[in-house]
Amino acid sequence: MQVRVIDHPLIQHKLTLIRDVKTGPKEFRELLEEVAMLMAYEITRDLPLETTMIETPVAQCACKVLSGKKISVVPILRAGLGMVNGVLRLIPAAKVGHVGLYRDPETLMPVEYYCKLPSDIAEREIVVIDPMLATGGSSAACIELLKRKGARHIKLMCLVAAPEGIHLVNNQHPDVEIYTAAVDEKLNDHGYIVPGLGDAGDRIFGTK
Ligand code: PRP
Ligand code: URA
Repeated sequence: MQVRVIDHPLIQHKLTLIRDVKTGPKEFRELLEEVAMLMAYEITRDLPLETTMIETPVAQCACKVLSGKKISVVPILRAGLGMVNGVLRLIPAAKVGHVGLYRDPETLMPVEYYCKLPSDIAEREIVVIDPMLATGGSSAACIELLKRKGARHIKLMCLVAAPEGIHLVNNQHPDVEIYTAAVDEKLNDHGYIVPGLGDAGDRIFGTK
């Protein structure tokens, strides 16, 4: 199972609050955004740097800057929206593409209903974001769609992953690195992650 678990104590603490059934939508949204920002810090750790000359008030200095790699963040609607602003707080220049997918409640298969991507998606580093990786069907379908549009460098960032979803994405997209804050035990008969956090979209937007 290829997956990077981001086990920073702040992320783990906030994830526990997010999971708690007593946490309401306002706090859930705030925490999810904070965790997304902290995870973005880890996910961007390998961004290339180059050297530039600047002048400090004291002396000239050869200093590091990002080498200008173009990044795009692609939330899977709806629940991925809850992580966008956290990521953009660290990478404000990133362009945002949107992919709309929902799981058919009977078959658990993803159904695509929306896609709007930056025109230069093929030249960008892409971070697909969705808090939940359950069967993996939605993430795998989103990655497939992005590849059809020419995308080549894709990472997947989720909050809670089930082993089933990790295996599916590993098998269908071995080139895609998965980052998560937790690998949970299993899926239940309705395809929900156990223990998970419930329905992420409903908890973000207060729907049921
Ligand atoms: C949830 C979640 C993922 C998907 C994960 O979305 O946000 O996109 O389920 O499940 P999977 O790994 O089995 O595909 P959902 O279909 O509930 O739509 P929503 O975000 O609009 O609520
Ligand atoms: N989608 C969710 O929102 N939660 C789960 O546990 C599984 C899929």
